[in-house]
Amino acid sequence: MSTRRKDPTLELLRRHESRNITLVQPEEGWPIVWKRARGCRVQDEAGRSYLDLTAAFGVAAAGHANPAVVRAGRRQMSELLHAMGDVHPHALKARLARELSRVTFERWTRRKGFAGGPETGKVIFGCSGFEAVEAALKTARLATGKPGVLAFRGGYHGVGYGALNATERGHFRDPFRDQLREFGRFVDFPMTDPQARSGGPGEDAPGVFIEALDRAAAKGDVGAVIVEPMQARGGIRIPPPWFLPCLRQWADRNGALLILDEIYTGFGRTGAWFACEHSGVVPDLVCLGKALTGGFPLSACVGRARVMDAWPPAMGEAIHTSTYLGHPVGCAMALAQLGELRRLNLPARAARLQAVLEAELTALQRRFPDRVSRVSVIGLMGGIAWKRPDGGPDTGLSVGLMHEALRRGVILLPEGEHSEVTGITPPLTITEAQLRRAFREITRSVEIRLAGTKPPAKPRHLRPRKIRP
Ligand SMILES: Cc1ncc(COP(=O)(O)O)c(C=O)c1O
Repeated sequence: MSTRRKDPTLELLRRHESRNITLVQPEEGWPIVWKRARGCRVQDEAGRSYLDLTAAFGVAAAGHANPAVVRAGRRQMSELLHAMGDVHPHALKARLARELSRVTFERWTRRKGFAGGPETGKVIFGCSGFEAVEAALKTARLATGKPGVLAFRGGYHGVGYGALNATERGHFRDPFRDQLREFGRFVDFPMTDPQARSGGPGEDAPGVFIEALDRAAAKGDVGAVIVEPMQARGGIRIPPPWFLPCLRQWADRNGALLILDEIYTGFGRTGAWFACEHSGVVPDLVCLGKALTGGFPLSACVGRARVMDAWPPAMGEAIHTSTYLGHPVGCAMALAQLGELRRLNLPARAARLQAVLEAELTALQRRFPDRVSRVSVIGLMGGIAWKRPDGGPDTGLSVGLMHEALRRGVILLPEGEHSEVTGITPPLTITEAQLRRAFREITRSVEIRLAGTKPPAKPRHLRPRKIRP
């Protein structure tokens, strides 16, 4: 029996956490128990060091425990740990709302070439990403009077009961389907890579796509289109350039609002502050979370002020609120995180490092041409989809690679409906050398898994680095 089986943390979780949450596979050395993390490095309870190519679900964009963000959080904790969300506010909530307006709608509508006049944004804060999604869906309902929502197959908007109506994957919806209102209508997400989905290249043409939207909205009750500009958990799927402009036009023509879920893609991940900037499309509402704070549960739905004013004025009992709304520590950290993203110019850094990530993923594809169905990269968001010799999605290889890479000191996550895609979303502070080193370990891991060789009992680990507490 492996000693890992007796890990006290995993044992406690096995006994006292819902059994659906943490997968424990001692024979694969899964999972590791995190002790501390700084920058791109994570250390586990056993003192082993790892390079994190996930930024912990995309959160640690400015590096794990970015010192400026930690300082801001600490300072705020000692000053004011909690305020009264929708009753007695605190100053940082107001400052962050202004900053989010500036970095989104004010930047987007003041740039040269924008057709309308300058606009500001208004915010509803939440804790998790799905809450930002639900705030956006409610806003669209109030603003348009229409309950229907168009969403995309493969999209992920979180698993709250409201958000589940727009998250299509049966894995998340099926057990609760009879409790959902089912106001979501789903359309195929077009991909740049014609091999990646069932149909041929012609199927992705804008005209055919618009027809699909029209069909899905035939009842005439669609008040919102919600979409990730690039799908992250759906398997790092990047749509063709016409996709968002098409959606914008369709929404305008059909009296619907365009909600962009930038919870994963926001704050520099794709090489721009927000992924919609690659196409110049301005949404009506944008959902933000994850990298917003770098590690505190705070999310935000930001909307054009005139759209957000569909909410009635406050009368003393807000109709959408929560105990921790606009938490002071989260706001302090978010303001510091935005400062770090700017100071370190991280969106531009992600754009620059795209070439390195692309070269590494393409080299992997060339090394294993029969086992790779597609490579997708934008900024520091990349994915490689694995296929079996019969062409089907190779979940086994993708998951096996993840296990082997972990043994070799690299943290990865699988994405996609079948977990067949290895996602690469490191902190935007990662160096070129770290990225290249991680890919050497990834390549070796694929070789080992494909050769079916038994991994060595004591795998060679990345050289441990001291991570100061
Ligand atoms: C695009 C997108 N939207 C929403 C969510 C849900 O966020 P949370 O897990 O914080 O509720 C996620 C989480 O991965 C996401 O990637």
